[in-house]
Amino acid sequence: MGGITESPVEDYLYSILPARDPVLTEIEAEAAKRDIPIVGPVVGRVLYQLAQLGGAKTVFEMGSAIGYSTIWWARAVGEDGKVIYTDSDAKNA
Ligand SMILES: C[S@@+](CC[C@H](N)C(=O)[O-])C[C@H]1O[C@@H](n2cnc3c(N)ncnc32)[C@H](O)[C@@H]1O
Repeated sequence: MGGITESPVEDYLYSILPARDPVLTEIEAEAAKRDIPIVGPVVGRVLYQLAQLGGAKTVFEMGSAIGYSTIWWARAVGEDGKVIYTDSDAKNA
């Protein structure tokens, strides 16, 4: 086990994930290639659901890296919502 969850739990969660669109899968591949830690599709979906359940319309994200989690937040708050994102690394910003 390398992560927070047991491998069988992680495998199960990944096996039931709906397909992601090309934007997300491209960023996932880019993050893997550049060794950038991102939340990934399971946690991304949890963030999305938390924002939706709470009816969030504004999100402040500290540490957006290359914008993967930011996209999940943006989709959750919708067209009339707002996501303020930031990263201390100029390369990411
Ligand atoms: C784990 S990565 C973020 C991944 C991103 N949230 C995602 O899942 O797509 C953490 C990021 O936080 C940034 N960071 C670290 N300290 C920070 C700070 N004080 N303010 C803003 N960003 C910071 C780092 O540059 C790094 O890109």
